[in-house]
Amino acid sequence: MHVLDAMQNSVEAGADRLELSILEDQERDQVIIELKDNGQGMAPEFAKKVLDPFVTTRNTRHVGLGLPLFAAAVQRCDGDFQIQSVPRQGTRLSAVFRYSHWDRAPLGDMPSALLAILLAERPVNVLYTHRVGSREFQFDSSEVRRELGDVPLSSSPVRGWILRTLQEGERDLQDLGGGS
Ligand SMILES: Nc1ncnc2c1ncn2[C@@H]1O[C@H](COP(=O)(O)OP(=O)(O)OP(=O)(O)O)[C@@H](O)[C@H]1O
Ligand SMILES: [Mg+2]
Repeated sequence: MHVLDAMQNSVEAGADRLELSILEDQERDQVIIELKDNGQGMAPEFAKKVLDPFVTTRNTRHVGLGLPLFAAAVQRCDGDFQIQSVPRQGTRLSAVFRYSHWDRAPLGDMPSALLAILLAERPVNVLYTHRVGSREFQFDSSEVRRELGDVPLSSSPVRGWILRTLQEGERDLQDLGGGS
């Protein structure tokens, strides 16, 4: 949910290209989640205080909780949370968790989160990379859009195909048994 929320922030900031990478490295006892976007970015002073729950540019509600909750989840597992942003260029967020920490939440349903972002009203592309040890799964929605031409991602066969592709990719990563 934190990752989905962060991707939503990117879309709200006008980004049309996201790069999400999740690296699970048991040997180094780390999970590194990195999200880069090409949205409008944030002024340096704003980026510094954005982890404060009362900072938001929303006008429908007066607290912004997405980033503070994400940062709190990281800090609970002795992790490290950073945001770097350049106005008019984009934002990079990185969250490093300790893999073996008791409080580290499981990754959750990434295929559904990615599909939700890809089907948002504003067209956005995501380059998704998920690495577990030496295995890697990558999905680039811009390739899919190129292949599809005028067919929208939201058409139900396409949507189903994307979801299955993501689910199979994730399953192959988790699949134990020493295959290469
Ligand atoms: N990727 C980003 N690019 C530009 N600005 C961002 C980005 N992520 C967050 N922000 C800014 O930081 C503010 C706080 O984000 P946060 O997710 O904590 O709260 P919110 O999105 O305002 O509300 P909520 O997530 O609770 O719905 C946002 O209102 C936005 O101005
Ligand atoms: Mg948010």
